[in-house]
This record gives sequence, C-alpha cells and structure tokens, in this order.
Amino acid sequence: MKIGVVGKGGVGKTTISALLARALTERGRRVLAVDTDSNPNLGLSLGLDYGATEALPTVPRSIVVGSRGDLTVAELMADYGTQTPSGVTVMSALRVNEAAAGCTCGGHATVRSLLGEALETETDDTIIDMEAGIEHLSRSGGTLAHADVLVLVMEPSLKAVITARRTIVLADELGIAAWIGVGNKVSENQQDLLARLCAQNDVPLDVVIPASNEVAQADREGVPLPSTRAASVWTAVNSLTNHLLQPAQT
Ligand SMILES: Nc1ncnc2c1ncn2[C@@H]1O[C@H](COP(=O)(O)OP(=O)(O)OP(=O)(O)O)[C@@H](O)[C@H]1O
Ligand SMILES: [Mg+2]
Repeated sequence: MKIGVVGKGGVGKTTISALLARALTERGRRVLAVDTDSNPNLGLSLGLDYGATEALPTVPRSIVVGSRGDLTVAELMADYGTQTPSGVTVMSALRVNEAAAGCTCGGHATVRSLLGEALETETDDTIIDMEAGIEHLSRSGGTLAHADVLVLVMEPSLKAVITARRTIVLADELGIAAWIGVGNKVSENQQDLLARLCAQNDVPLDVVIPASNEVAQADREGVPLPSTRAASVWTAVNSLTNHLLQPAQT
C-alpha cells in the first residue's frame, strides 16, 4: 500500500506516520517511511537518535526512480533507506541541506516517480509523511498522484477540517481512489465538535486518536512513544491500521 499522510500544519502527521508505520511493522509487514519535510524529524519518532537522524542521506532531487530511470527501487532503498530501531526503514526525501539551494520541486518529482513504481519486491507499505498543506497535490504533477490512499489528519478545528476538504477535492481530481479521515489530539469534550465539523464539510471521520500527554512528552524528548504507554492511542492506531488493511484483504 502506498499511503500519503496529509493535513494542516501541526495536526500530527509525523506522529501518526511513525505510529502507523510501527503498527504495520508489528503485523509483520515491511514498511518504508518517507520523510518529505524539508526539516525532517521522522527518524527521531522511529527510534534514531539525533546524530543518526542528522546523518540520514537525502535522496537526490530530480532523479527518476524505476528500471528505466536513474535508480531502481532496490538501489534507492539500498543507498538511501536506513533501518531504524522500530524495524521501519526510513528515507529522507526533501531535506534542505544548503541555504539558497532553490525550491524542492525536484524532490517532489522524485517521490512521485518512486510511488509510480511497483514497490512490492522491496516493501509492503510505503508511508509518505507529507509536509503541511495541500501544495503536494498540485506541484510536479502531484507528489501523491500514485498514492493508493490518503490519511487525512485533522485536529478538532474548522481550519484543519477545511484543509481536509480541500485535499479531498484535489485528490479526487488526481484520481486517488481512497481516503480515511483521522481526528487527532481529540480530547473527550471535543469529539462532538470534530464530528459536527466533519459532517458539515463532508469529510469522513473514520478514526479518532485521543489527545495524550504521553504522546506529547515522547515527542518533546524526541523518542518514540513506548508501546506500553498510552493504550488508548495505540487502540486508535490499530483501528486505523485495520481500516487501511481492509480493502487489501477483501
Ligand atoms: N495524539 C496526540 N496527543 C497529544 N499531542 C500530540 C498528538 N499527536 C501529535 N501531538 C503533538 O502535536 C505536535 C505536532 O505533531 P507533529 O509534529 O506530528 O505534527 P505535523 O502535522 O507532522 O507537523 P508539521 O506540519 O510541522 O509537519 C507535536 O508537539 C506532537 O507531540
Ligand atoms: Mg511533520
């Protein structure tokens, strides 16, 4: 499965990408997590320390991935994939290493070409932790044009839900077949508000991940959420995992 994790800034895309990647790995699947943030830190959430995260190689911009391109998928994984303590392979695709080096469109095109390839020989699931906003659905032919499914992450706020709504319109135009609405950082007294905002804006709300001090604390320390903590968060992440695996199983 090729999964794009998208949403407004700060809603929890990186957090959920890491938790989902770990949940899929625990089910015995080979998972590649691609960090497309120009200021990447997905590696930390998957158990790399700061030094190892800084040392992650960045996929070169404007290369075409595939047997007729610059690098095959296997070569790309071997050269730019890094195994993390969580068992997930992480890849940094859009890191900005130099000031004034120009825009990252070439990096987006590279990720697009990677998703356009058959990845089954190397990985079962590829998770793209997307940078904030919706530009990735328009630039370079749509970075996520070949995604199978989008995970629309939303905080309980109108702006986050509207971002999901706009994303759905663009995803539909791109021909992306499926999306799943995920509420995140939802405290008990905000559940009704989020459900109402989603219903009013025709955005699905399939899974709700609670607000959790333990998630926030792990993130502050730059370490993965321990699998023994925040049981309600893991229950929700497993529910998301089930949702994603459902179509593949039928
Ligand atoms: N379920 C949660 N409960 C509490 N805090 C959370 C939860 N999910 C994420 N957070 C916190 O929200 C903040 C933003 O999370 P994260 O970095 O994952 O968002 P993002 O969407 O990837 O942000 P960006 O748009 O900058 O890439 C972090 O401080 C994180 O710890
Ligand atoms: Mg992020």
